[in-house]
Amino acid sequence: MKTIGILTSGGDAPGMNAAIRAIARTAFEEGLRVKGIRFGYDGLMSGDIYEMNVSSVADIIQKGGTILGSARSKEFQTPEGQDQAVRILKQFGIEGLVVIGGNGSFQGAAALHNRGIRTIGIPGTIDNDLGYTDYTIGFHTAVETVIESIGKLRDTSNSHGRANIIEVMGRDCGDIALYAGLAGGAESIVVPEHEFSIDEITDRIERGRKRGKRHHIIVVAEGVGEPYSMRAAIEQRTGVETKITILGHLQRGGSPSFTDAKLGSMMGYKAVKALIAGSSSVAVGVHGDEIFTMPILEAIEVEHEFNEELYEMARVLSH
Ligand code: F6P
Repeated sequence: MKTIGILTSGGDAPGMNAAIRAIARTAFEEGLRVKGIRFGYDGLMSGDIYEMNVSSVADIIQKGGTILGSARSKEFQTPEGQDQAVRILKQFGIEGLVVIGGNGSFQGAAALHNRGIRTIGIPGTIDNDLGYTDYTIGFHTAVETVIESIGKLRDTSNSHGRANIIEVMGRDCGDIALYAGLAGGAESIVVPEHEFSIDEITDRIERGRKRGKRHHIIVVAEGVGEPYSMRAAIEQRTGVETKITILGHLQRGGSPSFTDAKLGSMMGYKAVKALIAGSSSVAVGVHGDEIFTMPILEAIEVEHEFNEELYEMARVLSH
């Protein structure tokens, strides 16, 4: 193998640049050439590809987003799109491809492997919804962003004696809400993994009010549904004015936390070493402090387990 390519696909995530840097630097050390593929699988199919050198990845470890750009490609999901991608990879002499992204991006990597390209997946998504790995790159930073926002909303909530609903991202996964709610000290956490009870939320508000509490923070995962009916029910039952903040794409930006910059670096390094050792169609993951690889098709089959113990802890601690 003489040349590898790198692409980032799906929603961007802080720490992707740290992974790109690690992949490129490890590959140069091993005497490989590296091609950067812009805008995910879309850029691969159109040949939007450039030669990277040591300077291409200088000064990016702390940058949010992805220097390669990203996309959610519909065309690449078709057999014609995948055939076209293989033609381009051959034209550019790319024998190994590192894909940084989520579940859909991994399926693309597996499809290319079936067409004879050596591929490896690195989990990059703020959602933390891949069950085979403890964490995905970007999750910790997104959680930090939500915690900072909870603190700010608590300030104004206290001043006005209001409740605040904060809707956070995560698709169908409640991890961002759970971890940020626990570490940010939210009074209520609402996630798609649990049926939510409006009685429990309003009882907490009323209990808090009785002992003089002037704020009430409710973190709601986007997978639960729209927060407006929840607000209406809270106001109607408790009389407490309730504001809604949808944090949205703020959670996707910013410099990676220490954890995400470290995870990106370690996974990028490991991915290149695995490619060189002959692996293909494998995913890189982390368990505890250990970085490992496993077959990508098995990895995407592992169901993400919601951490019930943390959820219970958060309930107990949030009086
Ligand atoms: O997968 C990451 C994510 O930010 C999800 O949490 C969210 O549901 C989705 O992407 C938003 O996608 P887009 O940026 O395409 O609107």
